[in-house]
Amino acid sequence: MKVIDGKQVAQEVLAECALEIGTLKTQGIIPGLAVVLVGEDPASQVYVGSKVKKCGELGLHSLKIELPSETTQEELLKVVKELNEDAAIHGILVQSPPPPHIDEAAIVRAIDPGKDVDGFHPENVAKLALEDPTGFVPCTPAGCMRLLQAAGVETSGAEAVVLGRSMIVGKPMGLLLMGRESNATVTIAHSRTKDLAGVCRRADIVIAAIGKPEFVTADYVKEGAVVIDVGINRIKDDSRKSGYRLVGDVAYDEIKDQCAAITPVPGGVGPMTIAMLIKNTIKAARQQSV
Ligand code: GUN
Repeated sequence: MKVIDGKQVAQEVLAECALEIGTLKTQGIIPGLAVVLVGEDPASQVYVGSKVKKCGELGLHSLKIELPSETTQEELLKVVKELNEDAAIHGILVQSPPPPHIDEAAIVRAIDPGKDVDGFHPENVAKLALEDPTGFVPCTPAGCMRLLQAAGVETSGAEAVVLGRSMIVGKPMGLLLMGRESNATVTIAHSRTKDLAGVCRRADIVIAAIGKPEFVTADYVKEGAVVIDVGINRIKDDSRKSGYRLVGDVAYDEIKDQCAAITPVPGGVGPMTIAMLIKNTIKAARQQSV
């Protein structure tokens, strides 16, 4: 069994980014990312903090906009509009999920598609389906593809099962896996799928993005499968100072010995998401400068 080291692969992506940032700087361009967080969700605060910190380390311009949970739809739309018009900002990300009174789809549609480094805008969703390389691919699934590639996993002709159908991971993941650069045979499974364990057991590649702690157990995974765990779940653990620990959507200890390769949590997909966000921000800056 091989543990796929997301921290290591993310370092490789960020090293490529550092080179591109250097080249852009010689042209007087400093890529800029704005990260908007509405509300006080502690996990989201951590994610947003890590994204902004990574920008700083790489010499990118970044803006963290933290808004109270009472922020109205109109106020948030105004912030997005200002960022659309800010020439120093090339990428805009509104952390998901927003508070329930916010219409997330409307916010996403308000972002300039050329600055939509999350790849959530309908124009970028369409470009992904059309395999148009000028679009932005959502960071988490893009990171999963890069992990598969780095681990030398043959996707062409493989049976891939994606557990979860979200806009952020499941749907774009399915499109990437079935695309012409990957050529996998894809099943998107979810909570209503009949015989979920049986469907997953067919897979050469399992992508677990169902948002339930340690949901994927031994009976979901065929011997020799590759398992990518997208889940980040906080579960209560009084032995930790924080009072919680992080687990994935996969029961790691239970299945690790039957996998050919598996990503850990933390240190698997998480660091890749941030690395791909930086990559998308650089791409946005490059496309906006021509
Ligand atoms: N919440 C969880 N993952 C993501 C992501 O990739 N982008 C945004 N904006 N919110 C998220």
